[in-house]
Formats: sequence, structure tokens, C-alpha cells
Amino acid sequence: MAAAFRLVVVVTCALLLASACQGLQVGYYKKTCPRVEHIVRAEVKKFVYKNAGIGAGLIRMLFHDCFVQGCDGSVLLDPTPANPEPEKRSPPNFPSLRGFEVIDAAKDAVERACPGKVSCADIVAFAARDAAYFLSKLKVKIDMPAGRLDGRVSRASEALDNLPPPFFNVSELVAAFAAKGLGAEDMVVLSGAHTVGRSHCSSFVADRLAAPSDINAGFANFLRRRCPANPTPANDPTVNQDFVTPNALDSQYYKNVLEHKVLFASDAALLGSPETAKMVRDNAYIPGWWEDRFKAAFVKMSRVEVKTGKQGEIRKNCRVVNHGHPHRHY
Ligand code: HEM
Ligand SMILES: *[C@@H]1O[C@H](CO)[C@@H](O)[C@H](O)[C@H]1NC(C)=O
Repeated sequence: MAAAFRLVVVVTCALLLASACQGLQVGYYKKTCPRVEHIVRAEVKKFVYKNAGIGAGLIRMLFHDCFVQGCDGSVLLDPTPANPEPEKRSPPNFPSLRGFEVIDAAKDAVERACPGKVSCADIVAFAARDAAYFLSKLKVKIDMPAGRLDGRVSRASEALDNLPPPFFNVSELVAAFAAKGLGAEDMVVLSGAHTVGRSHCSSFVADRLAAPSDINAGFANFLRRRCPANPTPANDPTVNQDFVTPNALDSQYYKNVLEHKVLFASDAALLGSPETAKMVRDNAYIPGWWEDRFKAAFVKMSRVEVKTGKQGEIRKNCRVVNHGHPHRHY
């Protein structure tokens, strides 16, 4: 019976696109660490109810992990003498990416329950999923497949090469997502995550406030009062992404796009092609439309270039690769 079921799974996967299978499974840890998803959720809940911004950081962390070396926990690795410039230290991540302490706390709790069983990459995916759940007031509920292994490579230069910058236009954004097997609609729907969290002024002042742009004039003035004309690392305040419902993961972002009240050129760029502009309107106006698509696109993103089998390991500490044989993962 079990063997027959496995055969069906294998055959079905062979017929589908590789990206749809990848060996990830919902309930992957049912036998080896049955409480893992509960444990991670409890940690995320503690942090997010104290500071909603940490939840935004965790949602962004999955994106930044998955687009660089695949969803393999590479974004978590600290600098070492052998690798002084990991992803974490690159401009798209440093100093803005936040929530690492949640991953540490979750990993500690998971290791106490089931040592050596659960990858850091899966903890990032579970934590991002849980952050979306809490910030959406329990509306965005995702079954997150698991079985990702942790990578051993993390280079700052690859973060710069693979993460789209906030000045990209619509064709550049579509291309950056296509490079990861994601479509234009995934790109539009995932950009909706800019309905929570914040941005540093340095991410948008030059191309949105200093240069001519289509930003709403009142909104631009509001931002000019909060941001220095020339942000520096020592003077780089933050502002909310979504000034209407700053801590709610909802479809308000698309209304902001239509009103030209968004921070980045990449947000405004969603109106830059008829196809993506239509998606913005659907997401803004049709109740439930965005939530359903966000859930699917989030899972699709979480499958990008995942490592399985001998391609990875299960780190003991999410901040450092394991010692010894690179292929050991048990
Ligand atoms: C489409 C291309 C994207 C671009 C160009 C982009 C760019 C940015 C930038 C520049 C920031 C502000 C960083 C700072 O200065 O503090 C930011 C924040 C954020 N991004 Fe994106 N992003 C993109 C897509 C995504 C995706 C796909 C997700 C997740 C599904 C996401 C989630 C977030 C979140 C939640 C924040 C707020 C983080 C916090 O408050 O700590 N972004 N993004
Ligand atoms: C986006 O920018 C690229 C590179 O600067 C340019 O070739 C392309 O035509 C632009 N696309 C749009 C839609 O503006």
C-alpha cells in the first residue's frame, strides 16, 4: 500500500514540472519531529505580537533566502574568517534585513525537541508562513511543504546579482522573477508583501523624491518631512511601506499603487505594462483575490532551487555551516 502510494507520487512528479515537486512535502517532519511546526509558530507568535515589524522581516527573509542560492538558509550564515562577505552582509540585506533572532530562538527550541532533524531553510519557510498568518489576522493560512536542506555557500555578490533593486522597471522585475522560475503574476502578487513593514529612506529618496517621478505629490511631501534629502548610514530613518494599514498583511498595497502612494519605483512599475496593471486592479478590487494568489505564489517561491539529497545538510547552528563532511545531513 505504502509502496504503491510512493510509486504514484514518483510517477506523478515525473510527469509534472520539476519545480512543482522538488521532493518537498507538507508534513515532511511528521515522523522525525512531529511538533516542529507548532514549536516554530509559538516562537514567531511571541516575537510578532511584541513587534509586528519582525514579522515583516521574516516574510522578506524567505524572499531573500530563496532568490540567492535557492531556499537553503544561506542568508542566515554569519561572516567568518574564511567567508568574510556572506549574503547577510550585502547591501540588500545589511543593515535592513531583520528577524534573525527569531530563527535562532526557533532553531534552539526545535533542537531541544528533535536534535539534528530540521533544517534552518525549513525553519525560515515555516517562520515566514507563520508571520504571514499572524500579520494577516489569521487570513493567510498556508500549508508549507518542507524537506529543504541547508546550503554551505553564501556570497554577498550573489545577493546583489539576484535580488531585484527598488529602481527596477516592470520588464526588469519580470526578468528577475523569471530567472527563478516565477511568472509576472507571481511577481505582482508577491510584491503585495509591501503592505507590511518599513523601508529606510535611502532605498527610495534618490529616485522617488529627488528625481522626477509619478509619486503622489502629497505623499512625496509627507515622505520629505521624514527623510533627509541625502540619507547616510548614520542618518537613515525608516518609514512604513503602507501608511494606511501598516501592520496588516492585506491587499491595501494595490490601492496604494493605484493612488501612486508607494515607496519604490519597483512598486509604481507594476502599472508599467497593461498585463501587470490589470493584475494590480484585480488584486485591489476583488475581495479574496490577492490572498488566494499570495498563498500559492508564496509556496512557489519557497520551492525555488531547493537542495535535497546530497546537495545540503542540516545545520546544527543556523549561523554556521557544519564541521566535517560537507554532505552529512543527519
Ligand atoms: C519585486 C521586487 C522587490 C523589490 C525591488 C523589493 C525591495 C524592497 C526594499 C528596497 C525594501 C526596503 C528595505 C529597507 O530599506 O529597509 C523592501 C522591504 C520589504 N520587502 Fe521587498 N522587494 C521586492 C519584493 C518583495 C517580495 C517578493 C517580498 C516577500 C514576499 C518582499 C517583502 C518585503 C517586506 C515584508 C519588506 C519590509 C521589511 C521590514 O520591515 O523589515 N519584497 N523591499
Ligand atoms: C526597463 O529598463 C531597461 C534597461 O534600462 C530598458 O531596456 C527597458 O526598455 C525598460 N522597460 C520599460 C518597460 O520601461
